[in-house]
Amino acid sequence: MRDYSEQTLTQAVLDRIAHAPDPRTRQMLQSLVRHLHAFVRELRPTEAEWATAIDFLTRTGQMCDERRQEFILLSDTLGVSMLVDTINHARGGATTETTVLGPFYVEGAPAVEPGADISGGLEGEPLFVEGIVRSSDGSVLANATVDVWQSDDEGHYDLQLSEPGVFFLRGRLRTDAEGRFWFWSIMPRSYPIPVDGPAGELLAAAGRHAFRPAHVHFMIAAPGHEKLVTHVFVKGDEYLDSDVVFGVKDSLVAEFERRTETLPLGGGRIGRPHRYLRYDFSLRNEREQSAA
Ligand code: BEZ
Ligand code: FE
Repeated sequence: MRDYSEQTLTQAVLDRIAHAPDPRTRQMLQSLVRHLHAFVRELRPTEAEWATAIDFLTRTGQMCDERRQEFILLSDTLGVSMLVDTINHARGGATTETTVLGPFYVEGAPAVEPGADISGGLEGEPLFVEGIVRSSDGSVLANATVDVWQSDDEGHYDLQLSEPGVFFLRGRLRTDAEGRFWFWSIMPRSYPIPVDGPAGELLAAAGRHAFRPAHVHFMIAAPGHEKLVTHVFVKGDEYLDSDVVFGVKDSLVAEFERRTETLPLGGGRIGRPHRYLRYDFSLRNEREQSAA
C-alpha cells in the first residue's frame, strides 16, 4: 500500500509493527505509535515546530554524558519519573516509601566507616544522621549497604563542582549487627535542578520554578530484599509543596532537630551544636513481594 492519508497512516504503521517478535516490545511500540500520532493530530504542528521538537530532543541527547543525564531531568520535571515510581511501589504498608533516583547518584561511591564525616570539610551546619534498617517483617538487617548522597550548603552536588572521581557528600555505609548506620555530614540545602539545558528551557517556557526541597538521598540494599531508593526531606522547607520533580511524600519528611548535647555515637563534632536526624528504613522482603 502507498498514498497514505492522515486517516490511514496510523493504521499502516501499526500494521507494520504487528509482528514484532517480543510481545512486550510490540505492546510498547503500538502504544507509542497510537499516542504519538494522536498527539500530533491534536496539535497539528507546523513543519518548523516539528523541527524545533527534533532539535530539542537532539540537544537533550547531546547534553548527556556520565555526569549529566538530561533525559532523566526531562522525565523528572514532566512527572514521568514519579508516575513510574507510583505504579511500581504501592503506598502504605510496612515498607519505607520510595521517590525519584535523580541524576546525581554515582556507582562506586567511596565506602565509609560508621560515624565517618562525609562533608569533605565543606562549610555548613553539622548534621548527625542515624537509623536502623529493617526487613518488612521487623527484623533488623545487618550488613545492608546504605548509599547516601546530598547537596552541599549551597545546593550543589559534588558532580556539579568537582573533577571526575572526586567525591564529597556521598558514601557507602554498611549496617552493623543491629542494623544500625550513622554518619556525620552538613545540612543539605534546597536547590534548583540544572537549568542550563533543554529541561531548564521547558521549565522557563512553562513559567515554573526549578527548586527541590532540601533532602538527603538514600539507596539501601540487602540480600533477599527490594532495593530501596528514597530521600528524607527536611521538615519546614519552603519547597515541600512545589518540588519541581513532584517527589515529596509525607512519610519522607522528617525533623532535623537542633541539638547541642553529646551523642553516644559518631566522630569529631560531638558536643558542638548540630542538627540531628533519626530515620529508620524498612525494606520489602522479596518473598512477601512475590506473594503479593
Ligand atoms: C535530586 O534530588 O538529586 C534530583 C532529582 C531529580 C532531578 C534533579 C535532581
Ligand atoms: Fe537531590
